[in-house]
Amino acid sequence: MIRDLQDRILQLKKEKDCCILAHSYMSEDICEIADFTGDSYALSVKAKSMPQKMIIMCGVRFMAETAKMLSPDKTVYLANGAAGCPMAEQMSAELIEETKKYYPGYAVVAYVNTTAELKAISDYCCTSSSAVKICRAIPEKDILFIPDRNLGSYVKAQVPEKNIQILSGGCPTHARMEDTDAKAAKKAHPNALLLVHPECRPEVVALADYVGSTAGIMSYAEKSDAKEFIIGTENSIVQHLQFRCPDKSFYPMSKNLVCNNMKLTTLTDVYNTLIGRGGEEIVMDPELIRKAVKCIDRMIEYGG
Ligand code: 13P
Ligand code: SF4
Repeated sequence: MIRDLQDRILQLKKEKDCCILAHSYMSEDICEIADFTGDSYALSVKAKSMPQKMIIMCGVRFMAETAKMLSPDKTVYLANGAAGCPMAEQMSAELIEETKKYYPGYAVVAYVNTTAELKAISDYCCTSSSAVKICRAIPEKDILFIPDRNLGSYVKAQVPEKNIQILSGGCPTHARMEDTDAKAAKKAHPNALLLVHPECRPEVVALADYVGSTAGIMSYAEKSDAKEFIIGTENSIVQHLQFRCPDKSFYPMSKNLVCNNMKLTTLTDVYNTLIGRGGEEIVMDPELIRKAVKCIDRMIEYGG
């Protein structure tokens, strides 16, 4: 059944000149039919360079919006229109405009998990894999980092030469994790390395053997000589890694590390999008794109 649906999708995507981009949190059946799977930084870079005239993004809304802004002439669909990222919606443009008044001269660095409206009033964008590099590389010393306080704290610790002010947003899925979760997982698997996403709290990050983006965590585990790993990011990564590295063992840091938003997209959504009976076309005001894309372009310039 799944194989049949996958075959029909592969055929349709050729006929429609469509490329399918999938975030690493997507299920295995979606990753198998995708032209490219990766973290949010790699997806942005791919969205700009893929030759097809149509893109289906399997992920959450800000990823599809980023693809549209980087390829405004392409038709971009979010495979499941209900899939949003709660962190991206946490802060309004009005709040950030007000906050900027208290930090005159600061460069606003926005995590890519933000709305286009927030990107339009930010100076630089970053992802979890490029945040440290970008904050180090930009000429400004004073930085207002929005909206993820945990990623902001991680960057601040890695880039002590900069003055980084942090607001108090965050990912509800990763921020739910306590150091007690990390300690319990380490106790249960004493020989395992702990790999965590920087959206986790600083006290969890402090216990980690490696901190990185979803793609960073996967690549570290694949290349490592170690045999056991505790995964401190969305639990789909545990399954992907177990599938890719059958001779190693992967354990979730907590069974609660599940992003319900990322779980919404199904293979059927991808099929329905291709036959014109599902998905949501991303339509954006060209003026908003013009303002917001500048900080994404700078992300690729400084983060590449
Ligand atoms: P990555 O940048 O690691 O892909 O993370 C995106 C995300 O939403 C993590 O929760
Ligand atoms: Fe957003 Fe967190 Fe889900 Fe990532 S895991 S999409 S940051 S809610």
